[in-house]
Parts: sequence; structure tokens; C-alpha cells
Amino acid sequence: MTTPLASAMALVLQHGIPIFPDQASSIARRVDLLYYFLTAVALSFSALIFLTVFYFAVKYRQRSPDERPQPIHGSLTLEIIWSVIPLLLTMVMFFWGATLFYEIRTAPGDAATLTVVGKQWMWKIQHPEGQREINQLHVPVGRPVRLVMTSEDVIHSFFIPAFRIKMDVLPGRYTDLWFTATKPGTYHLFCAEYCGTKHSGMRGSVVVLEPADYQAWLTGAPAGETPETAGGRLFRQFNCHTCHEAGPTSRGPSLHEIFGKTVRLRTGETVNVDDGYLRESILLPTAKVVAGYEPVMPTYQGQISEEGVMQLLAYIKSLTREAGGRPQP
Ligand code: CUA
Repeated sequence: MTTPLASAMALVLQHGIPIFPDQASSIARRVDLLYYFLTAVALSFSALIFLTVFYFAVKYRQRSPDERPQPIHGSLTLEIIWSVIPLLLTMVMFFWGATLFYEIRTAPGDAATLTVVGKQWMWKIQHPEGQREINQLHVPVGRPVRLVMTSEDVIHSFFIPAFRIKMDVLPGRYTDLWFTATKPGTYHLFCAEYCGTKHSGMRGSVVVLEPADYQAWLTGAPAGETPETAGGRLFRQFNCHTCHEAGPTSRGPSLHEIFGKTVRLRTGETVNVDDGYLRESILLPTAKVVAGYEPVMPTYQGQISEEGVMQLLAYIKSLTREAGGRPQP
């Protein structure tokens, strides 16, 4: 007869004691190595301090009631040793940690960009090919994936323990995250920031597939509109083109070949045209107006969902990509 205890024991015998989740991304092993190092340093210093305490307690115990110890007036050698060794150790931690952090925060240029919208209490994900998922994320093994994320309500946090990545998902702002999955399988996806009653239920799974299986999944899942196409539709639906595509006399700047560039504002400042700036310009159009234009654009706050904004951005980015691909006249 199998009791839960017996099956748990069988699992432990088979896999060992699972202290860590699977190492399923390109950085997982290296994050763990750093973590092991920090733990080893902490443990060895704790051991050293405790052993010394006990050793000195015995060695320097009072041997007779009238014994008076010799006063000590310091030791330069000792002070240098206990300053330099911790300094070196913390510098190792700093540079090791900073290098890893930098790598985790910098997505490779060829990463596929997916959008994630968090809301109480679910994750809505859209692939660049158009497929939508809720609380599920299908990705191929071995290919970098970048997630651009925002929230429709409160702060959430996107956490895939097996990939060792986590990032807050904030209302009114874009945050991003990237990973390369290295091992096919199904992994937990959690919300790691308390976001209301059903926070603990705001979870899902990441399904890592072999490239061929992923292609099959992609073909099988209903694609619907790509973010780009949907964005183009919204662009016309909200009449963006009447001001932004009217030629030299238009009331708004052209959006072709604009993404990733730097533009000058009415105030004389410059701003880099990225996701955050475009989003702000749709929802808060008078905040940073491009030089040579009047602050006449109405806000679209409340008229367009976060997903809609992301689709518009995909469309505006495609205008830059197309321009880049064509020979200049
Ligand atoms: Cu969303 Cu916790």
C-alpha cells in the first residue's frame, strides 16, 4: 500500500532532497553558484567565530580568583588581516554579483519579444506571431526570449523559479525580463508580489518545448492578429494617421523611422524614443512634446487597454523596421 509518506520517500531516494528548483535556463547554474559561494562564506565565518569563542573561553578562563589579565594595547598585524580579508571577499561578491546582474538585465539583440500584462489575478501573454495565452507560456528551448511587461491594476511580480528570474510588473510602466530556456519541461510561473485576495492563485506554467515541438505548437495555436496588425488597426480606429501621417503640414510628428532614435522636445531637452516614451505620449500626450509641434493631442487614457497600447507600439516599431529594410531614396 502506498501512503503519501512512502511516495515522498521514493521521490527523495530517486531525486535527492530538492533544495533548489530545476536549473532550466542559461543563467540558472551561475546564479546558484554565486548563491552557494555566499552561503559557504557565511557558514565558514559563522563556524570560525563560534569555534574561536569557545576556544578563547576555555583558553583565557579565570584560573584563580585573584588572577588579573595583562592589558592588550592593540595589534596592527591583526587589524590589517581582519580588514583586508573581508574587503577582498566582499569585492569578489560585488564583482561576481554585478557581472551576473548585468547579464541578467541585458537581453540579447536577437531575443523574441513577447508582451505580458498582469491583472488581478492572471497573466495575459501575447507572442509576436499573434498567439495569446493566459497563465501559460510556451517557449522553445535554446532561444532567447524577452518579455515586456506591464500591469492593468496593482503591482505584480513575474517569477519563474526554475529560470532564476523575477521582475516586478508595474502599472503605468514597462519592465522587462529575458531568459534562454535550456531544458524541455513544465515549470512554475508565480506572482511574487502580494496583489490582493487571490494573489496565491495567480500562477501558471511555463512549457519549454524542443524547437520542432514549439513550431508545431505555434502552428496549432490559433494565431489571430499579430500585435503589429492589431496595432495598425487601432492606429486607424483612433484616427492616429490623420495627424501623424499627413505629410509636412501634419499636426504631429511622423512615426516612421522614429523608434530607438533621439528626438528634441519643445523644452530643448532630448528624449530617447523607447517603449516608455511612446506609451507616455499616448496616455499623457502633453508631457513631452516634440519640438516644432503644439501640445494639441488628446489623451487616450481610459480609451485603450494596456494590451492595445502594446499593440500600437508594435505597429509603430514595425514602421521603423520597414523603413530600415528599404533602400533610402
Ligand atoms: Cu499578482 Cu500577486
